[in-house]
Amino acid sequence: MPRIRFDDTGMAIRMSNKDYQRLLQQRLAELEDRGQRRASRTVDCLPGGVCRIDGRERINFGGNDYLSLAHEVGRSDQVRDVFREQVGATASALICGRSQWHDALEDALANFENTEAALLFPTGFAANLGLISSLVQSDDAVFCDRDNHASIIDACRSCAGRMRVYRNNRLESLDESLRRRRAEYRQVFIVTDGVFSMNGGVPDLNRICEIAERHDALVVVDEAHGTGVIGPHGRGACDFCEVEHRVLARVGTMSKALGGLGGFVVADATTIDWLRNTARAQFFSTALPPAICAAMLESLRIVRREPRRRRHLAELTAFAHQQIAELGLHSVGDGIAPIVPILLDSEELAVGVSAELLDAGWFVPAIRPPTVATGNVRLRLSLTVGHCMQQVKQVLGCIRTSIDTSRRDF
Ligand SMILES: Cc1ncc(COP(=O)(O)O)c(C=O)c1O
Repeated sequence: MPRIRFDDTGMAIRMSNKDYQRLLQQRLAELEDRGQRRASRTVDCLPGGVCRIDGRERINFGGNDYLSLAHEVGRSDQVRDVFREQVGATASALICGRSQWHDALEDALANFENTEAALLFPTGFAANLGLISSLVQSDDAVFCDRDNHASIIDACRSCAGRMRVYRNNRLESLDESLRRRRAEYRQVFIVTDGVFSMNGGVPDLNRICEIAERHDALVVVDEAHGTGVIGPHGRGACDFCEVEHRVLARVGTMSKALGGLGGFVVADATTIDWLRNTARAQFFSTALPPAICAAMLESLRIVRREPRRRRHLAELTAFAHQQIAELGLHSVGDGIAPIVPILLDSEELAVGVSAELLDAGWFVPAIRPPTVATGNVRLRLSLTVGHCMQQVKQVLGCIRTSIDTSRRDF
């Protein structure tokens, strides 16, 4: 049956499935014209910071397995046993999907993060969605950094309260906006990434907390790229900036440094109880596989037991920034987190350099619109424990050469 749509004048437009597919083809062609149509690629990530693409191994600077745990934690006998016994959790946590492994992992996360309680979510995306839509009610507002991860942006857009966006790290404008608008809302939240995923920068969380305290606002921090990686205890940006006790709730994901899958929120027991009762992204979704929980328990043990992994990452990051300066490349970020962006003039250049690097045995993704704003095109290197200084030096050298060659050819 054709579906009926209406034009601006109220006239019915008949659109069949075929018509609609044609419309989608047109939109895809527009993406293609803008150079923004993505093709999915098959990448087999191997241990040791290596991946296989089109049958050839490359050094992988595209993944977020910062501590090189993704291939390691599944080897434990315990994890294998749990996996052999049961794959799917069979139901959401509130029905019968929450096993002893979920229970143990929530306890271990609360313990590791030094909070009263933790709540698991299927992904970090779901954790942001569940948390923000549960906290921000219709009389409330959420102030959101423009460069926050898409999951936070989507959560803020879809929550019942008012979303207010401030430019990346423009804390004076956040302060000013709160001064003017605070009285319009019952409760106000400030939500920020602890590490911005596109530039690796850590916001000034002390200043954000000061602003929040001055305007009676509550702070939420997404620690997706910080968990296990930065801070004296490896708990992320709040640990690094020593503001954990000033923040209402922290979101984490186990899909990056912990090498697995699943999101979590850590906070006081009452906030977690509220989320357990109201976060739709948690209780309308099947719980994580128990074996993933067992594996993530193992990851947390390694993070605690082996701080040398974080130290190695910090050394690699500092070395990368030193090389970037020596080579005259243009980066941003503060060198705290192991995400190293190299800014480039155009999408064409970024895509060209990334392709040349792939040929030469390095996988370094080009990040371009719509992932970043037009004019902010970059290559992004994610450093991991599997990399060594020699590789970092070589890949940055190749980037320099490739940029210079492209400019000469142009
Ligand atoms: C800052 C940030 N938050 C949340 C997420 C979502 O995490 P997950 O991959 O577990 O859904 C990501 C993932 O890229 C992220 O970079």
